[in-house]
Amino acid sequence: MLKDKKVVIIGGTSGMGLELARLVLDLQGCPTVVGRNAEKVKDALALLNHPAKGFAADIADRQALKAIFEQTGGLDHLVITAADLVFKPFGAVTPEEIQRAINSKILGPYFAAQFAAPRLSREGSITFFSGLAAYKPSAGTSVVATVNAALEGLAKSLAVELSPVRVNAISPGVVDTPIWEHLPVAERQAFYDGVARNLPARRIGTSADLAQATLFVMTNPFVTGTVLHVDGGGRLS
Ligand SMILES: NC(=O)c1ccc[n+]([C@@H]2O[C@H](COP(=O)([O-])OP(=O)(O)OC[C@H]3O[C@@H](n4cnc5c(N)ncnc54)[C@H](OP(=O)(O)O)[C@@H]3O)[C@@H](O)[C@H]2O)c1
Repeated sequence: MLKDKKVVIIGGTSGMGLELARLVLDLQGCPTVVGRNAEKVKDALALLNHPAKGFAADIADRQALKAIFEQTGGLDHLVITAADLVFKPFGAVTPEEIQRAINSKILGPYFAAQFAAPRLSREGSITFFSGLAAYKPSAGTSVVATVNAALEGLAKSLAVELSPVRVNAISPGVVDTPIWEHLPVAERQAFYDGVARNLPARRIGTSADLAQATLFVMTNPFVTGTVLHVDGGGRLS
């Protein structure tokens, strides 16, 4: 299904993106992982095996993206999990924080899709990552809800404009990844437990849950313009 397929994963040095890179390799595909931090790229490549490749770049840096896609050449799938978000009371969010979120979740994905589009195979796909906050916001998620909702709009419009390339978004609920590492261990566990208790699935997500879901939207030829909710039923709780 993915044998010899080239999959570029922007955000592939951590969490769901890194788990997807592992899965692509297991299926004999060729992942390329991209993240800002060169050390994290090195660590990811040490975890993954040949033929995985890696680049350090900010998704909002058009010149860096251009260079990456020129080096990569033709590709089969683009997946974007990059996110630089802020969770803060509405009135306390700074212009810089909003701009970083917009860069990582709107402008960057837009530029990456522009560079990838002419190089993608006709059977290929683009998968963006939005998130539950767009559907079930809580206090402190104004920036997250805004950029996630916008990204889903981009996915739907590109599904029409880039056809037959398929374009989808995945909307995760709370998933145990390094994105939550800013919380002290005990506080993080209490947060996970509290979320799990209120979810129909009675647990939070894993990177493996999301990698499997991404594989589905990447490879199912009849899935396009869709938002796949992988949130443990979070919109209903
Ligand atoms: N985990 C959750 O509970 C959850 C819930 C809802 C939605 N989501 C969404 O799911 C996606 C994946 O999240 P995750 O939990 O796997 O996150 P993660 O573990 O923090 O990984 C994020 C990846 O994106 C890269 N990245 C961040 N900003 C970037 C930028 N400006 N340019 C290039 N790369 C950048 C990071 O590397 P560098 O830092 O080195 O750049 C890292 O590789 C995100 O879009 C997130 O918003 C997650």
